[in-house]
Amino acid sequence: MSQAPIPPRPGPGGVAARLAEILRVDHAGELGAVHIYRGQRAVLSQAKGQERIADQLAEMEGHEAVHLARFDALLTEHGVRPTAMTPVWRLAAFALGAGTALMGPKAAHACTEAVESVIEGHYAGQIAELEGREPDLAAELSRFRDEELAHRDLAVEEGAREAPGYAVLSAVIRAGCRAAIKISEKV
Ligand SMILES: [Fe+2]
Ligand SMILES: [Fe+2]
Repeated sequence: MSQAPIPPRPGPGGVAARLAEILRVDHAGELGAVHIYRGQRAVLSQAKGQERIADQLAEMEGHEAVHLARFDALLTEHGVRPTAMTPVWRLAAFALGAGTALMGPKAAHACTEAVESVIEGHYAGQIAELEGREPDLAAELSRFRDEELAHRDLAVEEGAREAPGYAVLSAVIRAGCRAAIKISEKV
Protein backbone atom coordinates (compact mmCIF):
# COMPACT_ATOMS: atom_id res chain seq x y z
CA MET A 1 0.00 0.00 0.00
CA SER A 2 1.71 3.18 -1.09
CA GLN A 3 0.77 6.80 -0.90
CA ALA A 4 0.88 9.20 -3.81
CA PRO A 5 4.12 11.19 -3.60
CA ILE A 6 3.59 14.68 -2.27
CA PRO A 7 5.28 17.26 -4.51
CA PRO A 8 7.45 19.79 -2.68
CA ARG A 9 5.90 23.21 -2.28
CA PRO A 10 6.95 25.63 -5.01
CA GLY A 11 9.32 28.49 -4.35
CA PRO A 12 12.63 28.86 -2.52
CA GLY A 13 12.90 26.59 0.48
CA GLY A 14 10.09 24.30 -0.70
CA VAL A 15 12.35 21.29 -1.20
CA ALA A 16 14.12 21.87 2.13
CA ALA A 17 10.78 22.26 3.91
CA ARG A 18 9.52 19.01 2.43
CA LEU A 19 12.75 17.21 3.43
CA ALA A 20 12.27 18.53 6.98
CA GLU A 21 8.73 17.09 7.02
CA ILE A 22 9.98 13.74 5.79
CA LEU A 23 12.74 13.50 8.38
CA ARG A 24 10.46 14.69 11.18
CA VAL A 25 7.68 12.21 10.46
CA ASP A 26 10.09 9.30 9.95
CA HIS A 27 11.85 10.10 13.21
CA ALA A 28 8.44 10.16 14.95
CA GLY A 29 7.46 6.84 13.37
CA GLU A 30 10.64 5.09 14.43
CA LEU A 31 10.36 6.54 17.92
CA GLY A 32 6.82 5.17 18.03
CA ALA A 33 7.97 1.78 16.77
CA VAL A 34 10.66 1.49 19.46
CA HIS A 35 8.11 2.33 22.15
CA ILE A 36 5.45 -0.05 20.84
CA TYR A 37 7.90 -2.97 20.98
CA ARG A 38 9.12 -1.78 24.36
CA GLY A 39 5.53 -1.74 25.68
CA GLN A 40 4.89 -5.21 24.31
CA ARG A 41 8.09 -6.52 25.84
CA ALA A 42 7.25 -4.95 29.20
CA VAL A 43 4.23 -7.27 29.29
CA LEU A 44 5.37 -10.37 27.44
CA SER A 45 8.93 -10.68 28.71
CA GLN A 46 7.40 -11.21 32.18
CA ALA A 47 4.89 -13.82 31.04
CA LYS A 48 5.58 -17.55 31.39
CA GLY A 49 5.83 -19.47 28.13
CA GLN A 50 6.20 -16.29 26.02
CA GLU A 51 9.97 -16.48 25.56
CA ARG A 52 9.60 -16.97 21.83
CA ILE A 53 7.63 -13.78 21.17
CA ALA A 54 9.70 -11.87 23.73
CA ASP A 55 12.83 -12.73 21.71
CA GLN A 56 11.14 -11.75 18.44
CA LEU A 57 10.03 -8.42 19.92
CA ALA A 58 13.51 -7.73 21.27
CA GLU A 59 15.03 -8.38 17.86
CA MET A 60 12.54 -6.10 16.08
CA GLU A 61 13.01 -3.40 18.70
CA GLY A 62 16.73 -3.60 17.98
CA HIS A 63 16.10 -2.86 14.28
CA GLU A 64 13.83 0.06 15.20
CA ALA A 65 16.50 1.45 17.52
CA VAL A 66 18.94 1.48 14.56
CA HIS A 67 16.34 3.25 12.38
CA LEU A 68 15.64 5.78 15.14
CA ALA A 69 19.34 6.49 15.71
CA ARG A 70 19.74 7.20 12.01
CA PHE A 71 16.86 9.70 11.99
CA ASP A 72 18.22 11.29 15.17
CA ALA A 73 21.47 11.89 13.29
CA LEU A 74 19.65 13.13 10.16
CA LEU A 75 17.59 15.63 12.19
CA THR A 76 20.78 17.00 13.69
CA GLU A 77 22.58 17.06 10.35
CA HIS A 78 19.75 18.97 8.63
CA GLY A 79 18.86 21.20 11.58
CA VAL A 80 15.32 19.81 11.74
CA ARG A 81 13.41 19.80 15.05
CA PRO A 82 11.59 16.65 16.14
CA THR A 83 7.79 16.78 16.24
CA ALA A 84 6.30 18.65 19.20
CA MET A 85 4.20 15.52 19.71
CA THR A 86 7.24 13.45 20.76
CA PRO A 87 6.25 13.01 24.44
CA VAL A 88 2.67 12.14 23.44
CA TRP A 89 3.78 9.60 20.81
CA ARG A 90 6.14 7.96 23.30
CA LEU A 91 3.35 7.39 25.79
CA ALA A 92 0.72 6.47 23.21
CA ALA A 93 3.04 4.00 21.50
CA PHE A 94 4.08 2.34 24.76
CA ALA A 95 0.40 2.09 25.76
CA LEU A 96 -0.52 0.61 22.38
CA GLY A 97 2.25 -1.98 22.72
CA ALA A 98 1.43 -2.88 26.31
CA GLY A 99 -2.32 -2.89 25.64
CA THR A 100 -2.14 -5.22 22.67
CA ALA A 101 0.32 -7.50 24.50
CA LEU A 102 -2.15 -7.75 27.40
CA MET A 103 -4.72 -9.00 24.89
CA GLY A 104 -2.31 -11.82 24.04
CA PRO A 105 0.57 -12.64 21.69
CA LYS A 106 -1.65 -12.77 18.58
CA ALA A 107 -3.04 -9.32 19.31
CA ALA A 108 0.53 -8.09 19.78
CA HIS A 109 1.35 -9.51 16.35
CA ALA A 110 -1.83 -7.93 14.90
CA CYS A 111 -0.56 -4.59 16.20
CA THR A 112 2.81 -5.20 14.53
CA GLU A 113 1.16 -6.15 11.25
CA ALA A 114 -1.05 -3.03 11.28
CA VAL A 115 1.72 -0.60 12.22
CA GLU A 116 4.34 -2.06 9.89
CA SER A 117 1.88 -2.12 6.97
CA VAL A 118 1.21 1.59 7.37
CA ILE A 119 4.92 2.38 7.85
CA GLU A 120 6.06 0.37 4.84
CA GLY A 121 3.44 2.09 2.64
CA HIS A 122 4.53 5.44 4.01
CA TYR A 123 8.19 4.64 3.21
CA ALA A 124 7.21 3.44 -0.27
CA GLY A 125 5.60 6.83 -0.98
CA GLN A 126 8.66 8.70 0.26
CA ILE A 127 11.05 6.47 -1.70
CA ALA A 128 9.13 7.19 -4.92
CA GLU A 129 9.22 10.89 -4.11
CA LEU A 130 12.93 11.02 -3.18
CA GLU A 131 14.47 8.71 -5.79
CA GLY A 132 15.14 11.62 -8.15
CA ARG A 133 16.30 14.34 -5.77
CA GLU A 134 17.74 12.49 -2.74
CA PRO A 135 18.89 9.09 -4.05
CA ASP A 136 21.07 8.26 -1.01
CA LEU A 137 18.25 8.89 1.42
CA ALA A 138 15.83 6.97 -0.83
CA ALA A 139 18.21 3.98 -0.76
CA GLU A 140 18.43 4.14 3.01
CA LEU A 141 14.63 4.34 3.37
CA SER A 142 14.41 1.38 1.06
CA ARG A 143 16.57 -0.71 3.39
CA PHE A 144 14.46 0.34 6.39
CA ARG A 145 11.28 -0.49 4.46
CA ASP A 146 12.58 -4.01 3.76
CA GLU A 147 13.01 -4.52 7.50
CA GLU A 148 9.49 -3.22 8.21
CA LEU A 149 8.18 -5.67 5.62
CA ALA A 150 10.06 -8.49 7.34
CA HIS A 151 8.51 -7.45 10.69
CA ARG A 152 5.05 -7.44 9.11
CA ASP A 153 5.59 -10.85 7.51
CA LEU A 154 6.81 -12.37 10.76
CA ALA A 155 3.73 -11.03 12.56
CA VAL A 156 1.44 -12.58 9.95
CA GLU A 157 3.30 -15.92 10.11
CA GLU A 158 2.91 -15.88 13.89
CA GLY A 159 -0.87 -15.64 13.65
CA ALA A 160 -1.64 -11.88 13.69
CA ARG A 161 -4.83 -12.47 11.71
CA GLU A 162 -6.12 -15.02 14.23
CA ALA A 163 -6.16 -12.41 17.01
CA PRO A 164 -9.53 -11.91 18.69
CA GLY A 165 -11.30 -8.91 17.13
CA TYR A 166 -8.61 -8.76 14.46
CA ALA A 167 -10.55 -6.70 11.87
CA VAL A 168 -11.50 -3.92 14.29
CA LEU A 169 -8.18 -3.94 16.12
CA SER A 170 -6.24 -3.70 12.88
CA ALA A 171 -8.47 -0.96 11.41
CA VAL A 172 -8.25 1.17 14.56
CA ILE A 173 -4.47 0.87 14.78
CA ARG A 174 -4.00 1.67 11.08
CA ALA A 175 -6.24 4.75 11.38
CA GLY A 176 -4.29 5.89 14.44
CA CYS A 177 -0.97 5.48 12.63
CA ARG A 178 -2.19 7.43 9.60
CA ALA A 179 -3.41 10.26 11.83
CA ALA A 180 -0.09 10.30 13.70
CA ILE A 181 1.77 10.52 10.38
CA LYS A 182 -0.30 13.52 9.20
CA ILE A 183 0.19 15.32 12.50
CA SER A 184 3.92 14.59 12.77
CA GLU A 185 4.65 15.99 9.31
CA LYS A 186 3.24 19.37 10.29
CA VAL A 187 3.50 19.82 14.06
FE1 LIG B 1 11.59 1.04 11.69
FE1 LIG C 1 9.53 -2.21 12.00
